[in-house]
Amino acid sequence: MPDLDRNGVTPEVIAQMASTPDPRLREIMAAAVRHLHDFAREVDLKPDEWLAGIAFLTAVGQACTSYRQEFILLSDVLGLSRLVNVMHDAEGREAAGTETSLLGPFFREKAPEFAAGESIATRDKGGEEIILFGTVTDAAGTPIPEAGIDIWQVDATGLYDLQSGDAAVMDMRGRFRADAEGRFHMRTVRPIGYSVPMDGPVGQFVQRQGRHGLRPGHIHVLVQAPGYRELVTALYMADDPSIDSDTVFGVARSLVVRPERGLPGAPRPDLPAIRYDFRLSRLDAEAGGGRVGADPSQMMPAGR
Ligand code: BEZ
Ligand code: FE
Repeated sequence: MPDLDRNGVTPEVIAQMASTPDPRLREIMAAAVRHLHDFAREVDLKPDEWLAGIAFLTAVGQACTSYRQEFILLSDVLGLSRLVNVMHDAEGREAAGTETSLLGPFFREKAPEFAAGESIATRDKGGEEIILFGTVTDAAGTPIPEAGIDIWQVDATGLYDLQSGDAAVMDMRGRFRADAEGRFHMRTVRPIGYSVPMDGPVGQFVQRQGRHGLRPGHIHVLVQAPGYRELVTALYMADDPSIDSDTVFGVARSLVVRPERGLPGAPRPDLPAIRYDFRLSRLDAEAGGGRVGADPSQMMPAGR
């Protein structure tokens, strides 16, 4: 019989799990147990702390609904989503391809479709109107015709439509299509910075750490075209006070923008505009696919 002491329990758990038929699951779980046990030994985890952790994770699970993914939020504030994103990017993005950013918990499939130049602000909540325009090309700059472009962001009060908890409400999000030369243009309002949801267990956790909980204003963008790797990214407002302290670590230098008047080629010279050219990487059969995130409704068990 093995000695299941402070150190002996770890190899015993891993040995018992060695019967896992799926080799990748076996590898992941062996590493997870190793690190989890090391963590408990390093901090000398006490019973009340262990229970507090379990109560916290229970509350995180209970806060999840079809409109809210508290576990993704937890992953985001711990920087895990950023890390997975960066590793995913390194595998499949061409060097000149646009950098990715977090999908976040507020993406929704099947957003309403708009024609070029239309505004995603369908319920007038105020805010300064701006234009987003540019091209979709491959990494070498060759235009990709007819790419699908989804954008979504908060309204002028700093909330996503999903935060209303009503599935019938779709606002501040839309699908556009680039033209035959890869050009696109759309209207929205200048995105303001906002707080990640603070009314749940993850928000309380962020508060307890003395963090502000803010994200700099941004527009989420998802670009798709056959034969190219899906691009999930976001454009961040340069003048936002939290541009250097994003609570979920989504900002990259190449994604920082500033709406300006008088940009050459801007389709509406009367409005401030952002020009951004999205460069897609070719699909690489060797690189892992998949999105780092999902529509929250797809992560709930059927019927809930
Ligand atoms: C967002 O950008 O929508 C977001 C990302 C991570 C956590 C909360 C919000
Ligand atoms: Fe966001």
